[in-house]
Amino acid sequence: MTDDSLQKFTIPGHLTLNSTESGQTKATVQTEWSHAEIHLHGAHVTSFQKNGEAPLLFLSKLSQFTPGKAIRGGVPIIFPWFGGREGYQAHGFARTAEWTLEETAKNADGSISLRFLLPEDLAPCRVEYLVTVGKALTLELVTTNSTQEAFAYEDCLHTYFHVGSIHDVTVHGLQGTTYIDQLDGNARKAQQQENIIFSREEDRIYLNTPSVLEIRDVGLQRKILLETSGSRSAVVWNPWIEKSARMADFGDEEYLEMVCVESGNVADNRIQLPPGGTATLKLTLKTLIL
Ligand code: BG6
Repeated sequence: MTDDSLQKFTIPGHLTLNSTESGQTKATVQTEWSHAEIHLHGAHVTSFQKNGEAPLLFLSKLSQFTPGKAIRGGVPIIFPWFGGREGYQAHGFARTAEWTLEETAKNADGSISLRFLLPEDLAPCRVEYLVTVGKALTLELVTTNSTQEAFAYEDCLHTYFHVGSIHDVTVHGLQGTTYIDQLDGNARKAQQQENIIFSREEDRIYLNTPSVLEIRDVGLQRKILLETSGSRSAVVWNPWIEKSARMADFGDEEYLEMVCVESGNVADNRIQLPPGGTATLKLTLKTLIL
């Protein structure tokens, strides 16, 4: 059981809210097609799995579920900056904040939605997050500038995908774009190949990206479609051997089972929101048999 004030958000047969062993509150969602779990800590989707399929999202066995720490895996929300910022935590504060659950609903098509709000004392503006669990997983981060001044920010849905083996994974849709190679002094490079393969650490910020990307996973015999709107960047990351060993909350061999393809607005694509303006970053994840 958990905080009584949250029980009004349960949906019999579809949505429960419970405390985890580490004391965090987690929503568990069941639909006709899928199962999902979302922690209020970070409004963090930690699991999505379609019936009869392997999990879509990777979650590290060593993830820590503690205040002030981001969950390692699932979909951390990066906001309002991406990467390091001197004197502040990497990737912003949204992923370690305790979000407020505002509403849950069963939609006419049978999907289940949860709406979260980033505590307003934390955020410089209003930030809502809508998670919809159905045949697909749909995530929408809605930022509204309620101040009198323009607000510049970066955002990113830092999705960790579970894969059969990283050696059998390719990412498609980025040919012809420019990326910032974070492992080569932020050099700007052109993506010449049609597909991205993985044989070493990769950490790339792709700019001005198309609205549909695809991950092909021969090992799990599936492809994952990433359909976005309001997303101009994609970050492709795998820590490979040495960086995995350096991360305390990530197993040494886990780089083999995951790939991050993140969707958002980073670096040159950062958002300038005028007073009163709203921007929505939307990501829909679908799986298909290869
Ligand atoms: C990626 C960055 O988005 O996140 C990488 O491009 C970084 O450089 C990775 O290592 C994980 O970041 P963190 O802060 O969760 O360890």
